[in-house]
Amino acid sequence: MALWGGRFTQGPSQRFKDFNDSLKFDYKMALEDITGSIAWADAIYQANVLSASECEQLKQALQELYTELQNDIEKIAHEDDEDIHSYIERRLIEKVGTLGKKLHTGRSRNDQVALDLKLWCRSAVKVIEKSLIDLQKALITKAKQYQSCIFPGYTHLQRAQPVTFAHFILAYVQMFKRDIARLQNAHELMEYCPLGSAALAGTAYAIDREALAKSLGFKHATANSLDAVSDRDHVLELLSCASISMLHLSRLAEDLIIYNSGEANFIELSDQVTSGSSLMPQKKNPDALELIRGKCGRVIGALTGMAVTVKALPLAYDKDLQEDKERLFDAIDTWHDCIDMMSLVFEDLKLNEQNAIEAAKGGYSNATELADYLVAKGIAFREAHELSGKAVLLGISKKCALEDLSLEDLKSINPLIEKDVYECLELKNIIEKRDVIGGVASTQTAAVLKVLEQEYFN
Ligand code: ARG
Repeated sequence: MALWGGRFTQGPSQRFKDFNDSLKFDYKMALEDITGSIAWADAIYQANVLSASECEQLKQALQELYTELQNDIEKIAHEDDEDIHSYIERRLIEKVGTLGKKLHTGRSRNDQVALDLKLWCRSAVKVIEKSLIDLQKALITKAKQYQSCIFPGYTHLQRAQPVTFAHFILAYVQMFKRDIARLQNAHELMEYCPLGSAALAGTAYAIDREALAKSLGFKHATANSLDAVSDRDHVLELLSCASISMLHLSRLAEDLIIYNSGEANFIELSDQVTSGSSLMPQKKNPDALELIRGKCGRVIGALTGMAVTVKALPLAYDKDLQEDKERLFDAIDTWHDCIDMMSLVFEDLKLNEQNAIEAAKGGYSNATELADYLVAKGIAFREAHELSGKAVLLGISKKCALEDLSLEDLKSINPLIEKDVYECLELKNIIEKRDVIGGVASTQTAAVLKVLEQEYFN
């Protein structure tokens, strides 16, 4: 049964109905719709639209419906109702008869859908936050396991300076920490409840909207009804959080793909998250990571699509807004899956320590150190940089690392160079010298890990 037949003499064409109906995807908001309806029953009871017993009957029936659907909302998708609001109302009327027809007094599907989706977004924030925390834990555990293992650090994908594997992993922990903070900011902006805005001008009944907002877990009622029914900032906000976080996930995926390649061979991914080739028996492909990298595009597409849907959309509600849900649901599911998959990747990820050290040793990644050594001997940095570059050239011509050049060779670059240079060129020493906040030294890593462990494992 449609919610709006009165002024029509003909029913909609089947083709239009198929085009217009949203139940096949908005059924996902069934529980939010019932929660909103229970709060609305109370609100219109307070406004003397319902008697106490009518309110109780409605709430009880809605509660029953909630319990029935709680573990099986998928089944709703195949019903013939126009949308989730029509479905819940029909089921309510089936339970309590004509009393069910009173519930929509003073309410519109416009404020109803705005509420449902905002409630959905608010719980999505909590679900994603939890899985980001689990990912952080997996990363922190891995960083601890390889706390002091030397690893090549890159800029321009050229070996630059040695770091530790822990320092690399902890870089991503910082990114995911910001993703969580961004979600919390977004949640703060979702503290305004649109229910009571009705179709566009506000409800005509004496509803205490602040109390209604609080009963639904919000801090406040929205301040303008035109804005409230047409606002989808929370959808954009959540998609934007998702997109930035997916960028982080895709960068991590790409780094790991490179480190796992035959050329690098610094890490080994577990059989659990890789697949083989149907043709080449030797292959073990990093599919989980490639899919995470690929799905980043899909999530950014959802954000872009939503922005274009809202662009230049006149106030207040327009049916265009129904296009908000599918991409939001898909993007949030995708984001959630990718976070969980990345946690699984880290569960059994192994570092090939020796290969990583060899790579860190190669590529002259201690050349800055030689320059700093010369600075300590009283040479200006610019000149020291030039001299160290010459030493690299000498190393290249002799096909050896800086520390493998003889003292004689090094002295030919500058006579101030003494035997103590070799200690200074050692990777371990290079790492320990970076003992500032945010630096790679082991004391810094230990301090960061201590704080993180307290934050995530207590
Ligand atoms: N299915 C609609 C949506 O998702 C619900 C609101 C319908 N409102 C209306 N005035 N037709 O946006």
